[in-house]
Parts: sequence; structure tokens; C-alpha cells
Amino acid sequence: MTSDKFTRAQALELDKNDDLAAFRDRFYVQPGVLYFDGNSLGLLSKSAEAAIQQAVEAWKSFAVDGWTHGPDPWFHLPEKLGTLTASLIGAHPYEVSVSGSTTSNLHALLATFYRPSGSRTKILADSENFPSDLYAMHSHLALHNRPETDLILIGPDATGLISEDDIVSAMTDDVAVVVLPSVWYKSGQLVDMERLTKEAHRRGIVIGFDLAHSIGVIGHHVHDIGVDFAIWCNYKYVSAGPGATAGLYVHESHHDLAPGLAGWFGSDKERQFNMEFPLAPAASARKWQLGTPPILSTVAIGASLELIQEAGIAAIRAKSLNQTTFLRQLLEHFVIEAGLGGQIRTPREDDHRGGHIAFEHEDAVQLGKALRDVGVVPDFRPPVTLRFAPVPLYTSYQDIWDAVMVIRDLLQNGRHRQYSRERDVVS
Ligand SMILES: Cc1ncc(COP(=O)(O)O)c(C=O)c1O
Repeated sequence: MTSDKFTRAQALELDKNDDLAAFRDRFYVQPGVLYFDGNSLGLLSKSAEAAIQQAVEAWKSFAVDGWTHGPDPWFHLPEKLGTLTASLIGAHPYEVSVSGSTTSNLHALLATFYRPSGSRTKILADSENFPSDLYAMHSHLALHNRPETDLILIGPDATGLISEDDIVSAMTDDVAVVVLPSVWYKSGQLVDMERLTKEAHRRGIVIGFDLAHSIGVIGHHVHDIGVDFAIWCNYKYVSAGPGATAGLYVHESHHDLAPGLAGWFGSDKERQFNMEFPLAPAASARKWQLGTPPILSTVAIGASLELIQEAGIAAIRAKSLNQTTFLRQLLEHFVIEAGLGGQIRTPREDDHRGGHIAFEHEDAVQLGKALRDVGVVPDFRPPVTLRFAPVPLYTSYQDIWDAVMVIRDLLQNGRHRQYSRERDVVS
């Protein structure tokens, strides 16, 4: 089926005029695969591969001396990577640390910032946040013997999205800390961090954000807008590998606080090997590091951040918005308006949309399986969401066109119905 409104030639033309198109060759894009799951696990770049190989060589050649010698001494890696990350999120280098996982960093920061006292005992979050974050918050309430009712969860409104007005209305005098994502992992809704930070601070509330679904695809200004703390992973749009070491940011105004969880990698670097007790903490966000960083899961971060810097985060965001707009238009035209079902949950407006499109369809489980079988890789989030993330550094407009044509064909022929409606354990 062809359409006068949208044509494959348009996609090819968009690719031809795309200043970032050449970055695709610097990644391992598998032939015959249309990969849309870069917001779950980003693809391997050739420079990330080289960084990992270099670390293996350093281990081989230098053994324990690799901590202080070799092309990229491991001991100073968290600082070096913190500095590289800082510009991406709009922080000072000393406000950023590369360490732990998103979840463990949230624990470290809740242990620092959630100190229920007097009438300020509550944590304000939302029911659509990634479950691991909610588990972390819930466990801190339990540690403080606070009742479950002290976790206030804002749910979606009638549009299926989270209303920022609802969040602001819930910022009452008994709230100690607010924790929200920058982009909701399922719907792709982008939060107005500046507005919510301002509203929280007007009420004397500390606010932190999980940047997992925006880092590497959206630039932030966390310092200037006064965000108190943030956490993120490096395995989605940053493409630093499965389980890559995560990151955290703490605004400099809080650097006088003692880390709520302490470990020796949070030491003042000059004194770490004095093995002093008690801890002499670093004078920066490095004090929130805990134990030895997993070096082989850390080294690719630098190579990946350099690629992002070379492309420029503003150019990446601009292409991401164009690509999600194109994807939305094609899905609407060829699938939804063609009577094949489904709807798009992600906001239309650029300033409310993150890097992916959430397509909801009653047959999402079956469609997801059928798509994977023919080499189109979205991911499924229950109950009915298929997420499609074009990653500007390696997804082409042609990929988007081709994927939508496959979706249309499967739904038209009903071939997806051959698949079971049972979910896979990991999908
Ligand atoms: C928004 C968000 N927060 C937290 C996590 C959990 O991260 P980790 O397993 O690195 O702790 C994820 C995982 O995908 C996520 O998407």
C-alpha cells in the first residue's frame, strides 16, 4: 500500500539530510534488524568495544598496577567520567559521580536526604515510576518505621498521563522528599523539572529525579534549576553496555551533608589508602560512592559519552524529536487511522515528550512477539504497551518507515494472532 501523504522516499530524503547519519556506522547495527530497544539496552559502539578491549589489555599487562598506570588508570575513572557526564546534565564536575546502579544510588541518596523529622515524614512519588525506585522508597519508609501511608503516589489522570498540577497539589507540609522520573519509562511523558523543582523548594521540600530515560537523548540543566539530586543508568541512550555503572548528582549546596551510606570509595582520594577510621569523605559528590567500581562495566562510559559530545546533545535531541514525530505520524496514518487498532500514549507536544513512543494495542503481547520474529525489536511493558525508541546516533528514518510497514502488515494479515497471549518472563 502506498500513500500520497507519507512515502518511503520521504524517509530516504530525511536520512540524506541528517547531519548525524554518519554516526550509525560507528555502532554495531545488525543487518536485517530494526532495533527500537535502545531505551532498554543501547547498541555497542566500536569505540565502546575498543575501550573495553583496552581495559582487558591493561588488566593483562598491568595487573594490580592498572589502578594507577596504563592508558586510563582505573582509580581516577569515576572522577574522569563524572566530569564527562557533568556537561550532559548541566552540572559542575564535582557534583557528579559514576558509581553503583540506579537503584543503589537512589538508596544512597534517600539515606542522605530522607530523614523524617517532626511533621515532614512523607515521600512523594508517582505510581508510574519504575518499580525499582518505588521499592527503594518503600524500603526507606520501612527502615524508619514509617507507615506505608507515608509514600504518596500520584496516579495518572483521565488522559493516562501524570498531571504536574496533581504533583504540585500533593506537595504539602508533611512531604520531606519528592522523587520523580525525568521521563516516564512507560508513557514517554517528559516532566517539567524546572517547574517542579521551583514548586518543591517554595515549600521547603527536597526534590530528586531519575534521569534513566533522558540521559544521552535530552540535555539537562540540573544545577541551574536547583535540582537537589539525580540518579541515572548508562546502559540506555548512553550505550555503555549491559549493567554499566550508573551515575549520581548532588547539588553543591548539599555537599556539607555526610553520606547516609558510606564506603571507602567515598573517601577523599588523597587519603583513601591511609585506611583511616572513621571515613574522611571526599569534598564533592564523590563522597556518595560506596565500594570498588566494576571497572569492566565502567570503561565504555567514557567512549560513549565522547560520541554523544561529538554529535552534540542539542543535535541529538532535535533529531530524536523529529524521529518520534515521524514515527507517530506513520503509526497514526498507517495503523490507527487505518482501523488496525491501537493508540499512542506519549504526549504530542515536543516539550512533554521524551525519546520514545508508547504504542498501546490490545494485542501488544502477540504483536511484540511477531515483530521480534521478523527482526523488529521494540519492548513490551504490561499490560498493553509496546515502546519504540529511535536512538538518534544509530536509528535511521528508513528504519522507522520499515518498522511501521511491518506493524501494519502484521496487523492487516492478522499473523500476530498465531502467537500466544502469554507474556515472556523477560520482555
Ligand atoms: C527509570 C528507571 N529507573 C531505575 C531502573 C533500574 O535501574 P538499575 O537496575 O540499574 O538499578 C530502570 C531500569 O531500567 C529504569 O528504567
